[in-house]
Formats: sequence, structure tokens, C-alpha cells
Amino acid sequence: MSAMSAKIFVLNGPNLNLLGTREPHIYGSDTLDDLKSLAQARAAELGLEIDFRQSNSEGELVDWIQEAKESAHGIVINAGAYTHTSIAILDALVATELPVVEVHLSNLFKREAFRHHSYISPVAAGLITGFGPQGYPLALEAMSSILAASTPHSST
Ligand code: DQA
Repeated sequence: MSAMSAKIFVLNGPNLNLLGTREPHIYGSDTLDDLKSLAQARAAELGLEIDFRQSNSEGELVDWIQEAKESAHGIVINAGAYTHTSIAILDALVATELPVVEVHLSNLFKREAFRHHSYISPVAAGLITGFGPQGYPLALEAMSSILAASTPHSST
């Protein structure tokens, strides 16, 4: 598999559909569609194909992570509040054996103590937190590097 053809699932958890109107002092005024456009533009530059999705349901996110095992090469995930609660999402991510990049719009460590623990971080290659919408293109850049490093160089 070459990084050029890699497909990345970009998964978004609960309440991220409300971006734009939800606590704009924390999450900014961009909508989820704006984030999707930003991610798509960077993905195109990196030669990545992305499948950008959002769900308020933990089970649906687990289903999508399982689907990624069959049809994607990596997962970028902002699991929203499930970050701090979901062993099911952790288990699903481990089962995929795919590289994972965790992203959050806000800086979790500047916020309440209950946001300082993530079930995802221990199984993620890395964590991007606090850069707002720019976190998504940054996460894709990180994923591109991870995939390039794991792809054998062509001998031609
Ligand atoms: C968030 C941070 C979470 O703590 C919160 O529950 C969210 C959004 C972020 O992107 O900053 O829903 O994941």
C-alpha cells in the first residue's frame, strides 16, 4: 500500500455536529462542514483519501471503527466526550491494528480535570489538542508521515 492511495477515516463523536453554535468561546465559530473542507483540502495535498463522518452514538462510532479495519489505512478521531468514558471505543481501536491519531479542538489540559484523561491516547500514535480546526490538517499530516514510514520504499 502506498501513502498515495491511503484511505483515512476521520471520525467525529457526540455534539460535534453542533460546531459553530456550540460554546464558540471554546470551540470557535467554524461548523463541522468547515472542518470537513479544511481536512479534505489538506488530504488532497497529501494524496490521502478521507471519509469524514460524525455520530452522536457510541455504538455507531464502534461500528465505523470496525469498518475501518476492512476499508481504511488509518483513523483520525475526535471522539468528543466519549474520549473520556469509552472503553468500547478503545477496544475497537485496538482491534483494528490501524494507526490512530487523536485530535481535539480545545486544549484538554487547560480544561476540567475530567477531560485530562483519554481512553484513546494510550493507543494513539499521538495527540493533537488545542489548535482548533487546524488540528484536523495537522492530524492528517501526522498520519501521512506514519503511513510513509511504514511503507517500504520502492526499489525503482
Ligand atoms: C473535544 C473535547 C472533549 O472534552 C469534549 O467533550 C468535546 C470536544 C474537543 O474537540 O475539544 O466534545 O473533543
